[in-house]
Amino acid sequence: MSNSTQTLDTIDFAGKRAFVRVDFNVPLKDGVIGDDTRIRAALPTLEFILNGGGSVIAATHLGRPKGQVVEELRVAPVAAHLQKLLDGKAEVISAPAVRGSEVNRLAANLKPGQILLLENLRFEAGETKNDPALAHDLAQLANVFVQDAFGTCHRAHASTAGVPALLKPAVAGRLLQREMEAFELAFGDAKRPLVAVIGGAKVSDKILVLQRLIEKVDTILVGGGMAYTFLKAQGGRIGCSLCEEDRLETARQIMADAKAKGVDLLLPVDHVAADAFSATANILICEGDLEDGWMGLDIGPKTQQLFSDRLKQAATVVWNGPMGVFELQPFSAGTSKIALVLAESDCISVVGGGDSVAAIVKNGLQDRISHISTGGGAFLEMLEGKELPGIAALK
Ligand code: 3PG
Repeated sequence: MSNSTQTLDTIDFAGKRAFVRVDFNVPLKDGVIGDDTRIRAALPTLEFILNGGGSVIAATHLGRPKGQVVEELRVAPVAAHLQKLLDGKAEVISAPAVRGSEVNRLAANLKPGQILLLENLRFEAGETKNDPALAHDLAQLANVFVQDAFGTCHRAHASTAGVPALLKPAVAGRLLQREMEAFELAFGDAKRPLVAVIGGAKVSDKILVLQRLIEKVDTILVGGGMAYTFLKAQGGRIGCSLCEEDRLETARQIMADAKAKGVDLLLPVDHVAADAFSATANILICEGDLEDGWMGLDIGPKTQQLFSDRLKQAATVVWNGPMGVFELQPFSAGTSKIALVLAESDCISVVGGGDSVAAIVKNGLQDRISHISTGGGAFLEMLEGKELPGIAALK
């Protein structure tokens, strides 16, 4: 954890109102929450403040309503779920809006042990524009700012950057603290060998990540659709696999940089190939080149073995992105194998990104991974080595 970022432990919350930026941007369909991980992940912070005699004004965005009130994106289901998770330990009051006289009145009357959940922050157009007037209205509700929305810290919005600039002290909540500590473990003074597993469809999404990793890690294992741009850049034949023709030169440069730095960058040596992008396609295991009409949709068994051997030697592993089309069952084995090897290893493992996390959860391995990030875009930007505005604002 950076020395200049303070945590909850530095604050006496007794009698204080804490404005807690949470990331309750959960999947929601017909008012039903699909995955409540993000709400559960905020509980330690909320309970710490409430147990310390404080009250909480919690604020989140939900979806991207673009400054309009969108009925399906009201936070009411989230408030009800939070109330259930707190199991009678605290009362959750729903605010009718993000700001205004009624919100001010509810905040002023808040008693220790109560949580006031504001309406969806992005119903206000000023939120994503970091509007100073909105930041002011939010900041005056409380005496302390707590940032616990790691998943939103890459956004310089009113609630993530504007409010902490006005409302001091501004500290990191437990969830954010854990995320920062995990990155510190992986990149600060990491135990070696340090191995990165990078997958996903496109090289273009991961260029900055790969460039940074070359500076930091010993080995990079590349899988997923992006591997085919690398393989073609090396002169391989990739059939009709996904390829970003305009990134071939970038891929060559990344491989050259890795070599120059003494970083092993490993690509798939075999593939689960299909004749169509479909779970019912004809399937072949191909070594080396792919024939015309065939596309690689997952790493093959030899690559699984190659990658597993490297992972078993690692002391620290950072993983982002699937090894294949994980959402289609015939092409999910490579990603699941990585999840399993990490779970069985004693290494420090830090994992972020939708499909990588889904592979861990689907296989019931979440308790055997050192850190599973709640961030998507925020995790990637941390991997890129960027300072996130929501974290910078706490300094
Ligand atoms: C996320 O889901 O990654 C965060 O909540 C950020 O959401 P956003 O991409 O809409 O800013």
